[in-house]
Amino acid sequence: MRLRISSAPGDKLAAQAALLAGYLSEENHFATETTLADGGDIHLALTLPPRPLAAKLKAAGFADEAYRLTVTPEQILLEAASPDGVARGIQSLRQLLSGQRARLFVAGMVVDDAPALGWRGLHLDVSRHFRDVADVKRFIDLAAYHKFNLFHWHLTDDQGWRLPVEGYPRLMEVAAWRDATMIGHNSTSSKNPTDGIPHGGAYTADEIREVVAYAAMRGVHILPEVDVPGHVQALVTAYPEFGNTGGRPGVREGWGISDNTLNLEPATFVFLEKVVATLADLFPFHYLHFGGDEAKVGEWAASPRIQEQKRELGLASDHDVQDYFTARLHELTRARGRAMIGWDEIIEHGQPPVDTAVMLWRDSTINQHHLDVKALRAGNPLVLANHSQTYFDAYQETGAGIDFEPLAIGGGLPVEKVYGWRPLTDYPAELREGVLGAQAQLWAEYIPTRRHLDYMTYPRACALAQVLWTGDAREAWDAFDERLGGHLTRLDRLGVAYRPRQPKT
Ligand code: ACM
Repeated sequence: MRLRISSAPGDKLAAQAALLAGYLSEENHFATETTLADGGDIHLALTLPPRPLAAKLKAAGFADEAYRLTVTPEQILLEAASPDGVARGIQSLRQLLSGQRARLFVAGMVVDDAPALGWRGLHLDVSRHFRDVADVKRFIDLAAYHKFNLFHWHLTDDQGWRLPVEGYPRLMEVAAWRDATMIGHNSTSSKNPTDGIPHGGAYTADEIREVVAYAAMRGVHILPEVDVPGHVQALVTAYPEFGNTGGRPGVREGWGISDNTLNLEPATFVFLEKVVATLADLFPFHYLHFGGDEAKVGEWAASPRIQEQKRELGLASDHDVQDYFTARLHELTRARGRAMIGWDEIIEHGQPPVDTAVMLWRDSTINQHHLDVKALRAGNPLVLANHSQTYFDAYQETGAGIDFEPLAIGGGLPVEKVYGWRPLTDYPAELREGVLGAQAQLWAEYIPTRRHLDYMTYPRACALAQVLWTGDAREAWDAFDERLGGHLTRLDRLGVAYRPRQPKT
């Protein structure tokens, strides 16, 4: 028997029907046909009234993701107010069918479901360790499985540049490759040995388009990041004319933060304009990320040319040079009908334009300055990427337990701590609408393989997904932990190499 998946022609849900048909075929070995009509065994429909969405989320292109799944003996009906809502319901159905082959069974039920936070993201650094298109797609599909709706693609850094930009071939020939990679944990007190193995890679424009379409079908937005004016050692190696010293530093083989920053020459801004145009062409998402984090001012301070340009431009301090980059990138981004987002450094010394979003990461260090509240009070949209709660490159243990874990950047962020996060409670009620949502970070210095990426991501991402979807109404840890066991069985079936839970003591 073929299962019929139907949707009304006017609803334009062909992509979602195809997505569901694909899962049923791949994971359940079940033959399906999709029809643009009524009365299928599974019917997809945009019949839910849309709930009002915060203005800043709407402006960013997010949709109401509420859905209703009704299972009766006759039909499985999946209703939503938007295709993204249908995409979320499909993942619920996919979870319900996990492990079933050919004979499918779903208990009668009605599920009424909607997320608490709008922006629910997972970030992935493909600079420190390159992940090919297949790995990136799998990362996105697993994110969608957990109802994340945003993938933050960190495409450039000191250790490798992964984005093609027309007219700049040395990005692919030089900046995409390093000769070797540091062995062991980065240390300032001694020089680490390297492995002597070239590492690199980059995407083609067609591959990026393919990934964007793959994510869109799953209701996942892609936020691309080109990190400037710091984190540019790979770029400056390919194009020393964008740097401050004239030298080629070499694509960075170790971790830590390089001293390299961009200069203020016209050619640099011609390049940045081309980068903005490239991102706007490849990525439909409203926001484009231009980093802004950890840009050291040392090269600017030491450069007579920068000091001369500062005088010409009326920039008082070296930090104002960073704010000048923010202003120029804001302008270039706005000219393409998009908005800029950057790490919290962009609001540390200056005040970016009100449509520029801020991604808070230094919650446990610099944030005694309350950069999050500064952003919210000024009206800048805020995305929470709190170091203490969402940096999944940290050990999943604390204390001596770290000795039993694979090498990580530092300690420790156990899954229970992720689950205990209440992202909005620090903010007064009148400011909360300015918080678009939150995301986890997978910085990849110590994540060399796809399986290791699974290990660092899951089950912490399961916990974060629950935090962001259910908000403060979520169940107690013990109840979640109980259900997590069953969910990990689903992840086993998908071949996810998550970190096993500790046996209860
Ligand atoms: C960051 O972790 N440098 C944003």
